[in-house]
Amino acid sequence: METVIIDMKDELKEQDIKRVAKLLRSGEIVAFPTETVYGVGADATNEAAVQKIFQAKGRPGDNPLNVLVASKEELYELVQDVPEYVEKMLDAFSPGPITYVLKNKGRVAKTVTAGLPTLGVRIPDHPVALSIIREAKVPLAAPSANRSGKPSPTKAEHVIEDLYGRIAAIVDGGATNIGLESTVVDCTGDHPVILRPGAITAEQIADATGLSCTVYEKKAANAKTQAPALKYKHYTPEVPLILVNVEKMEMEILKAKAENKRIALIYQTAELAQLEVDEKLRLGDDEVEVAQQLYEILRSFKNEKVDVVFCEYPIFEHNQAIINRLTEAAAKIIE
Ligand code: TXA
Ligand code: MG
Repeated sequence: METVIIDMKDELKEQDIKRVAKLLRSGEIVAFPTETVYGVGADATNEAAVQKIFQAKGRPGDNPLNVLVASKEELYELVQDVPEYVEKMLDAFSPGPITYVLKNKGRVAKTVTAGLPTLGVRIPDHPVALSIIREAKVPLAAPSANRSGKPSPTKAEHVIEDLYGRIAAIVDGGATNIGLESTVVDCTGDHPVILRPGAITAEQIADATGLSCTVYEKKAANAKTQAPALKYKHYTPEVPLILVNVEKMEMEILKAKAENKRIALIYQTAELAQLEVDEKLRLGDDEVEVAQQLYEILRSFKNEKVDVVFCEYPIFEHNQAIINRLTEAAAKIIE
């Protein structure tokens, strides 16, 4: 399939938005930027279109898709039994990087929810995404626009790398602002539970709702019975990533060298700069910036150049989203 690249980096042209909406309404799938990561969208009410997403991404059929809408009213059209605390969260955080898992009304194609009674819905805070949804006039099933198992795309180039030739169009809106996927919150119980950490934190949710907000911990032992958000969290960068405590870094690098491995190092502690490796990258102290760049950094290491990437760990220990994405990407953790 020929993939059209549509440039919306500097300007939102009405004719381009119309073109994308037309593709979506005719059952094609299109990637576009949101404030978190790039998504690949399909008309959520069109079963055949939704199935194209699973095919293009190579996504397991039992991992449900999120739906993007442009307003609270549209969200309420898709879900039911919405607890009062969700109203408060919507006021505080939406549009924004948060996905609400709520009881599904059944207005979207069955494949979207992979047979679950719940639906994940988000109102993205990005002018391109919002214009596309409004013009398409349908809710869009829109998971991250990567091949299943790869880090999410934060630039159009990453989408091209993963999905070119597999989807009808890619809208280039430049780098995404946040860089990590939205906080996914189960809102079906009497208090909110975070299924996937993101830019909106448990603390912020507790503040906004006046309720406790827990973070669901994955238990390896019962991975099969886990909610899909947890079961399918793992992804693999091209070059294996090993998280290493700063105290053990020198030793691990020596061991890898003894095995003739070409080594890349991601670090923050200044003293690690003296270690000799093939590629070196220092992370700054600004966690917002590191979140923005993390997936691009993980994608930047290629098999032709290095055999292993060591990353200092932990970094930004209090930042659940960063810690979660690093541990999910890691082949091994040496603490
Ligand atoms: O920021 C984001 O959320 C991005 C942008 C594109 O909107 N989207 C995204 O979609 O990250 P995806 O499909 O890559 O991740 C959605 C997560 C998955 O872990 C999925 O299992 C979970 O949300 N999820 C979706 N519907 C769910 C449901 N009904 N119950 C539990 N988890 C659900
Ligand atoms: Mg994803």
